[in-house]
Amino acid sequence: ADVFTYDPGFTSTAACSSTITYIDGDEGELLYRGYPIEQLAEKSHFLECCFLLLYGELPSAAALEDFESRVTHHTMIHEQMQYFFRGFRRDAHPMAIMVGVVGAMSAFYHDSTDINDPWQREVAAIRMIAKMPTIAAMAYKYSVGQPFVYPKNSLDYAGNFLHMCFAVPAEEYVVDPILSRAMDRIMMLHADHEQNASTSTVRLASSSGANPFASIAAGIACLWGPAHGGANQACLEMLREIGTVDRIPEFIARAKDKDDPFRLMGFGHRVYKNFDPRAKVMKQSADEVLGLLGIEDNETLKVAKELERIALEDEYFVSKKLYPNVDFYSGIILEAMGFPTSMFTPIFALSRTVGWISQWKEMISDPEQKIGRPRQRYTGAPRRDYAEIESR
Ligand code: CMC
Repeated sequence: ADVFTYDPGFTSTAACSSTITYIDGDEGELLYRGYPIEQLAEKSHFLECCFLLLYGELPSAAALEDFESRVTHHTMIHEQMQYFFRGFRRDAHPMAIMVGVVGAMSAFYHDSTDINDPWQREVAAIRMIAKMPTIAAMAYKYSVGQPFVYPKNSLDYAGNFLHMCFAVPAEEYVVDPILSRAMDRIMMLHADHEQNASTSTVRLASSSGANPFASIAAGIACLWGPAHGGANQACLEMLREIGTVDRIPEFIARAKDKDDPFRLMGFGHRVYKNFDPRAKVMKQSADEVLGLLGIEDNETLKVAKELERIALEDEYFVSKKLYPNVDFYSGIILEAMGFPTSMFTPIFALSRTVGWISQWKEMISDPEQKIGRPRQRYTGAPRRDYAEIESR
């Protein structure tokens, strides 16, 4: 029989070469194309990071202007697509809507589904980055029973997303620059993370030659799970359930109990065995945003900080090297902005789209790329003869 390396969860298998993102899990280091995430979070902005991830270098002023105008040109979605939203129940989870609507994009943008044509690939990449906030915002508007708000291209990427979510026709909506900068930073921190589950899903789906819209829909489906992107929603719900700092020990005890499936959401990571550098920036950002909004005595933030403090001193978490991850503090900021928890994972999805697309583009042009086809260790019945139904 064939002998294969048995590696459930791909803990030690590199399935591709990549030049996009580097993680040193022991040091807690994350680089996009060589640039540290902390520097980007402070000095860059989301669309510049998109350019960097997609094309490998920071843009010149002219290249950035051109890129921004190409993205803004594509922010609207085909008018017919709104009927997809209207077909869903109002209480549908926005991630369920996104899986469906993004998958359906290939039915609307035929001229960017030929993966062998570099021009079509480029248009597909720009379309995905441009339209994802529009789709996420429409999913939100639909869930709250408000009219869809069209994109406003005079606003920056993050500001436009807030506008599409929170503007209503009845009154003027002015995007708060504090919130728009915080949203932009959340997007940057989520933009790429090498071969995580959803990115690997996108690579695997598109390795068969599937079109980019279908492949990204597969990535969105994977991201939804609570062990991955769904953790931001689960984390805030957990912090709310804990409610007050005096209840923290009870939840810490549950997380340590082998017979209890409960885990501390927003804690632990497959690769980071140290602080997730994104969590550090996110924590600082949560402090800043809540401070600037004048809600620094926010109970959820208090619970989060105390939970982090207690867990980081606890032998269980210390010995297993479990630290807060990116999802631990992001929900607190998103909640302060006015988002319901069901929108947290869609925001992760729209931010990660550039990473998925960059990894997809890299894969398509890699001469070593093959269809993804893992093998297995067969543990089922040995060969046996078919039994007639009367004799079973
Ligand atoms: N709370 C309590 N115990 C935990 C936790 C946690 N959050 N995470 C891991 N452990 C324990 C786990 O029980 C196991 O113990 P033992 O060795 O005694 O069986 C050990 O730590 C190793 O865990 P694992 O599940 O084998 O590790 P993994 O690399 O397969 O899983 C993870 C990584 C992120 C799925 C996991 O840490 C987890 O479920 N965390 C909570 C969900 C979460 O916050 N996910 C977001 C990840 S970062 C953003 C993203 O990727 O989207």
